[in-house]
Amino acid sequence: MKIISGSSNRVFAEDVAKYLDTVLTNASFRRFSDQEIFVEIHENVRGEDCFIVQPTCYPVNDHLMELLISIDACRRGSAKRITAVVPYFGYARQDRKTGPRTPITAKLVANLLTKAGADRVLTMDLHAGQIQGFFDIPVDNLFGEPVLAKYLETRPKEGKQMVVSPDVGGVVRARGLAKRLGVDLAIIDKRREKAGVSEVMNIIGDVKDAHCLLIDDIIDSAGTLCNAAKALVENGGAKSVTACASHGVLSGKATKRITNSVLEEVVLTDSIPIDEAMEECPKIKKVTVAPLIGEAIVRICENRSVSSLFS
Ligand code: R5P
Repeated sequence: MKIISGSSNRVFAEDVAKYLDTVLTNASFRRFSDQEIFVEIHENVRGEDCFIVQPTCYPVNDHLMELLISIDACRRGSAKRITAVVPYFGYARQDRKTGPRTPITAKLVANLLTKAGADRVLTMDLHAGQIQGFFDIPVDNLFGEPVLAKYLETRPKEGKQMVVSPDVGGVVRARGLAKRLGVDLAIIDKRREKAGVSEVMNIIGDVKDAHCLLIDDIIDSAGTLCNAAKALVENGGAKSVTACASHGVLSGKATKRITNSVLEEVVLTDSIPIDEAMEECPKIKKVTVAPLIGEAIVRICENRSVSSLFS
């Protein structure tokens, strides 16, 4: 087995390799002066089961291109099987046509990975599970929720607790966490009555005096969760609000927004590097999913069930 790390989250790839009791394959990623990417794998991969670890986070296009080139390098090096390990799958939110003459970029990325030579994909918390269907190769979509739940269980709160979905689209994920923690579920129903008028947040469920736990797949600008937390406290009378998510994209003013919000704590996985954000904002905490990805790799290699990891 060969574990190759792209440059997007090398620390994470090292942790995965550690779980597997191995080291990363020696490879280099260089730039020509015009910014073209050059990948070189310095070890023989002929006949090997290759896992290329590369979340396609910011800068998304560079990391995606690096992943495609790495797959090509492995394919031309006669690897037996190539798995693209993409814990955070960038462009996943562009999963449908939002208007006439608009793209479905998540499908385009699936095509690119397949065409480059990936035999399978290992990912986590795809924005929409249906994206698996964009691929004609096997896709294992892991869930970060059990790892997040384990951390949340270490900091129990006195009194009523509730899990809250920040939007109707996230109800299945939130219900899973609520079930695991044995608490009730509430939902925020966002509505914009008229164009140009700000959104109204209706809270479905009684969150009065509750310690609320918001769960989402992605925190990007952090607008969704900060606004939801504000509504829970100001309109619903919640006692405290903590948020968790699988992927900390944290673009633009996200960390500042979290710092200034009513959120008590924000728990994220290490699918995307977040150390800088944690330094800027001590409310942000990290849990690792490297052992989860590592275990999935073991099971893929041994042709064992990956889904049973969650049963
Ligand atoms: C949206 O459907 C996603 O599940 C997240 O709620 C969204 O991507 C979060 O984005 P932001 O942090 O920018 O509000």
